[in-house]
Amino acid sequence: MSFDLARVRASFPLLTREVNGQPLAYLDSAASAQKPQVVIDAESRFYEHGYAAVHRGIHTLSAEATTKMENVRIQAAQFLNAASAEEIVFVKGTTEAINLVASSWGGNQLQPGDNIIITEMEHHANIVPWQIVAERTGAEVRFIPLTANGKLDIPKLPALMDSRTRMLAVTHVSNVLGTENPVKALVAQARAAGVATLIDGAQAIMHQQVDVQDLDCDFYVFSGHKIYGPTGIGILYGRKALLDQMPPWEAGGSMIATVSLTKGTTYATAPWRFEAGSPNTGAIIGLGAALKWVSELGLEVIAEREQQLMNYALEKLATVPDLVIYGPRQRSCVIAFNLGKHHAFDVGSFLDQYGIAIRTGHHCAMPLMYHYQVPAMCRASFVLYNSEEEVDRLVAGLIRIHRLLGLSFNP
Ligand code: ALA
Repeated sequence: MSFDLARVRASFPLLTREVNGQPLAYLDSAASAQKPQVVIDAESRFYEHGYAAVHRGIHTLSAEATTKMENVRIQAAQFLNAASAEEIVFVKGTTEAINLVASSWGGNQLQPGDNIIITEMEHHANIVPWQIVAERTGAEVRFIPLTANGKLDIPKLPALMDSRTRMLAVTHVSNVLGTENPVKALVAQARAAGVATLIDGAQAIMHQQVDVQDLDCDFYVFSGHKIYGPTGIGILYGRKALLDQMPPWEAGGSMIATVSLTKGTTYATAPWRFEAGSPNTGAIIGLGAALKWVSELGLEVIAEREQQLMNYALEKLATVPDLVIYGPRQRSCVIAFNLGKHHAFDVGSFLDQYGIAIRTGHHCAMPLMYHYQVPAMCRASFVLYNSEEEVDRLVAGLIRIHRLLGLSFNP
């Protein structure tokens, strides 16, 4: 199927609004993507016509809602090519998924003297949960450093990995640099050494087809809101054999088999063991609609269009004076930059006045900011609904800001 930008843009009602008197150029989808009408409709239709508590009632509405929710589990398994729907845990998002694995798997497996390997380009969500469980268990967190061009220094990995390494937790795509890591090769290296693997797919899942069996990873995690689904829902894929060995992490209704005040409690099997309490069913239904919408468009078609736009953006941004771009030339759909020595917040505020939304700050990746010795960066991110015209507006905005701010800067 060929890509029809006008048709895609028309699917997203929010893209028609104005911001500060200008047409919106939304270049912040890596933080959170806008929602197509089909996702909004699926969620509201559920509340209007199909809403009830799941896994709790014998009545028709409850049974229907349960079936809808469990169908999304099957759909998510197919989307990731998981071996079975029982490898799919519904979570709030990537952050909760990693916390779940660190706490349940890590808390159970890690011994004093063990180590976990992460990387210098991780989002805080794939750093802090490991630091906390390491502190709790007496384990150590190590990291793969970056090369000068913003890639992982993979030749350093063998020296980091030893007989006490238990986990390699790596982002698939950097949320700041756009670097796509060779996760399949990294997983193979870890597996050969008997090390478990977790891939943070938050910035990859909306840009490429992910096949967890082909990657051969133990855990793969992503958030629904970055793949045009609702907020507050995400997926933890876990290899069934590992999920089965993991103890509960949150306790309450739905995650038990039997509860007795005198004879103790037994737990449900995975994945339900990890889904205590009433789930965010509306968001699960919306996620199902988002995955369907993306699949129908086709991830190969999406990737081709996005790469075309990224090449255009990199070429045009090269014309902006004093613009420093971080990361490798070949990258996924984010471009982090600074305009001379102007603070990212100043640049982002000016762009906002022109109706252009970008992210500014440390991007939840402070170690990466230390690496580049900057307090903050600007980040423009591009997805299937962005246009060349929006890139042109970003470039024109930056040139204008350079002119305006340059007058009072670097005397
Ligand atoms: N992790 C999201 C980002 O990079 C919020 O913007």
